[in-house]
Amino acid sequence: MLTSAASTALIVHAHPEPDSFSSAQSVAAAQALGEAGYTVDVLDLYAEGWAPVLDRHEFPSAEQPFKPQAEQMRAVKNGTLDATVASHLDRVLVADLLVLSFPMWWFSMPAVLKGWVDRVFVMGGVFGGDHGLFDQAALHGKRAVLLLTTGGPSESFQSDGAFGSMTDFLFHIHRGMLEFVGYDVLDPVITYGPAHLAQRDRANALDAVRESFALIAAEPQPAAR
Ligand SMILES: Cc1cc2nc3c(=O)[nH]c(=O)nc-3n(C[C@H](O)[C@H](O)[C@H](O)COP(=O)(O)O)c2cc1C
Repeated sequence: MLTSAASTALIVHAHPEPDSFSSAQSVAAAQALGEAGYTVDVLDLYAEGWAPVLDRHEFPSAEQPFKPQAEQMRAVKNGTLDATVASHLDRVLVADLLVLSFPMWWFSMPAVLKGWVDRVFVMGGVFGGDHGLFDQAALHGKRAVLLLTTGGPSESFQSDGAFGSMTDFLFHIHRGMLEFVGYDVLDPVITYGPAHLAQRDRANALDAVRESFALIAAEPQPAAR
């Protein structure tokens, strides 16, 4: 089923190994979205050499003491955001669907991706300033989904499992990063323990990822404000 010609997906991928299962997942997601009519934009943070650390050097005329969010607001207002941050932010703003693709590291996302959120989800650009929070934020009306892998098996991520509930682990990303800036957050697409999969099961898992993204593409966009 083809979606409207205007639909764009931005896949932000964070894995240091192009031959990893995570990287294969992100390719599978891009294929499925492309086949469903999406224009797919892929931002591979390791391949791009993305610098994840937000610091004062990004704001050459920062006031003292350095207040990162105040400087982000000022840079948005004055059009002086760092050029790479500004171009990534533009890519976020045009995408109808954001896919964050990563392996679970320490029950969270790799630092390179957290640092992408730190630097690109700028105050004044996606929330705050002329925008509010949650359904008043700039990305309201758009969808976001996590695409991840784990080391542990699915049983370990049940609420009575060894690690605890996956929903609990993802809350800080779902609520604290994505819903916070307005996204409608979809159920995560997860492959548990790909390192333990036989070759055939690995191929089946990638097919499952393709099916999940075909279904996502077929769902209507949420209504914007
Ligand atoms: C720094 C680091 C931290 C990790 N933390 C976790 C973790 O908290 N929970 C988990 O299940 N696996 C964890 N793992 C294992 C990875 O999630 C797993 O190897 C990866 O998702 C498998 O996908 P890949 O083959 O694409 O890398 C960690 C791996 C690394 C390198």
